Amino acid sequence: MSPTESALPDDGALLAVRGLRKAFGQQEVLKSIDLTVRRGEVVTLIGPSGSGKTTVLRSLNGLEIPDAGVVEFAGGLSVDFSAPVSKKQLAAVRDRSAMVFQHYNLFPHKTTLENVIEGPVQVQKKPKAQAVQEARELLARVGLADKENSYPFELSGGQQQRVGIVRALALRPQLLLFDEPTSALDPELVGDVLTVIKELADEGWTMVVVTHELAFAREVADEVIFMEGGVVVERGHPDTVLRDPREERTRQFVNRLLNPF
Ligand SMILES: Nc1ncnc2c1ncn2[C@@H]1O[C@H](COP(=O)(O)OP(=O)(O)OP(=O)(O)O)[C@@H](O)[C@H]1O
Ligand SMILES: [Mg+2]
Repeated sequence: MSPTESALPDDGALLAVRGLRKAFGQQEVLKSIDLTVRRGEVVTLIGPSGSGKTTVLRSLNGLEIPDAGVVEFAGGLSVDFSAPVSKKQLAAVRDRSAMVFQHYNLFPHKTTLENVIEGPVQVQKKPKAQAVQEARELLARVGLADKENSYPFELSGGQQQRVGIVRALALRPQLLLFDEPTSALDPELVGDVLTVIKELADEGWTMVVVTHELAFAREVADEVIFMEGGVVVERGHPDTVLRDPREERTRQFVNRLLNPF
């Protein structure tokens, strides 16, 4: 794609995705998804189970290879998945973002500190002493300074997820991806994790967050995208999409989340 054809709008956009498609066997899971994220923006993805939310995040993070679509990051990285993609291109996409998983995905046999420095030291080849110092600073910021030698099984779900967030931050990505970061937590632990994510948003981190926490989305998101069946049904400001949506299907989904019984 030449610069004149760039999908990236010239208005502070960090990421532009055009026509993202992914099938698993016969099942088309993403049917041409478009997405633009500006620097410092928080975009939330909502939608029913199986709508393709996780697949969008995994595609952005190079954990899935899309069948088609252009993924473009500011600074001159543009990958067209309709054509064969080299390992180098995939690694470049992967480097731009870091993911926080629903089930934390920490290494069970590594301590908190070891989990956090793994990526910076093994993948990014950062000197270990520097990685440790940065990890300690980040752990202190999320209230886990005293847990650096604990193993995941010694931590609560909320603490494990805060380690998961620190592990993502330690990679210094341009974009943070959160996949339902609080949905595996006991209700009383949800607030601590959402507070950390809100603080990161306030600090100016750019993020895409899959969540069912509508109050959080209303407060933190710049844009809410409602997906169903692998397509974007509706997108816009949270006050519109969550309070006064245009599409009947969005209204049904939001009402169901607000009134589950
Ligand atoms: N590796 C895979 N192999 C086969 N099918 C898959 C794979 N990953 C996802 N799918 C299917 O793709 C569809 C979309 O999955 P995805 O995980 O993206 O949905 P989701 O919106 O994140 O759902 P949930 O809210 O349940 O997490 C589902 O039907 C799922 O079964
Ligand atoms: Mg999912």
